[in-house]
Amino acid sequence: MISIFGSINMDLVARVSAIARPGETVLSRRADSFFGGKGANQAVAAARAARGALDVAMVGAVGDDPFGQACLMNLRDNGVDAVGLKAVAEPTGCAFITVDESGENAITVASGANLAVRAAFLDDALLAKTSVLVLQMEVPVEESLAAARRAREHGCKVIWNFAPTPGEEHQHLIPDLLAVTDILVVNEHEAIATAALLGAAKSGDEQQAASYLAKSFGLTCVVTRGSRGAQAVLPDGTRLHAAALPVTAADTTGAGDTFVGVMAAALGEGLDLAPAMERACAAASLSCLKLGAQAGMPGRDEIERALAQKVAPAAK
Ligand code: RIB
Ligand code: NA
Repeated sequence: MISIFGSINMDLVARVSAIARPGETVLSRRADSFFGGKGANQAVAAARAARGALDVAMVGAVGDDPFGQACLMNLRDNGVDAVGLKAVAEPTGCAFITVDESGENAITVASGANLAVRAAFLDDALLAKTSVLVLQMEVPVEESLAAARRAREHGCKVIWNFAPTPGEEHQHLIPDLLAVTDILVVNEHEAIATAALLGAAKSGDEQQAASYLAKSFGLTCVVTRGSRGAQAVLPDGTRLHAAALPVTAADTTGAGDTFVGVMAAALGEGLDLAPAMERACAAASLSCLKLGAQAGMPGRDEIERALAQKVAPAAK
């Protein structure tokens, strides 16, 4: 089993011709609601990719409100084990997302119930069944750290997705987080920002940042690079690369989450890192074809077909 410890949101999405700048108002035809939250997205991506070959559990919190009930139902409908989920007195997390014509986005997250997530939600019974624990940066960092520490003591592999970018208020915790991380997943911006927070030279690019992080903390650093695929640096400096599929993106929201969830599921099934990254890149590419973080996340067959053909179907 793999367990995802993290956030659950309802996403309210508006398509705009250009994302509003501070002080500006832009008009959009309509808003649509989608299931989101980095944790829930990763759990759904993993469950669809595993299609029963592996159990996927989600640990997190929703509010005792209609959004929360819908989010819970959605996780269950996708085959995610919900034993680690709690309904709390805060409102369900909500993300306000604008997507422009090129599929790029701007996101504001109102955390709500996600701030009530505690390490104890990952109970011993669940931990005993878990071989891979996946974390992000949208629930309290101290609780995530406590959960990751317990997971490591139990011999779990820890995959930490530093998204969104850790803030300066968490700078002092970063060495502790990385000390219990086996695989760090970051995008280019997050790689550079994390290295900078650790005091590494600012002038470096994401490749140098990834090498620095891998070497300093004895971890594998995977950098996701959008249409350019993903690159990994192993603790010994070895590099791996996986290519993305050529797609015309309708919405890149959740592509990183798809990558993390699918890679975690593949590793949980016993695949090596290189093929796990390849699957994850293909799935992340496919996820961009539809509006909504989870809407385009592919199932196992779709991933396998795309990998065999090395192309994605045309966007609908
Ligand atoms: O990574 C995408 C996700 O970030 C969205 O679904 C939104 O909820 C925010 O958490
Ligand atoms: Na999408």
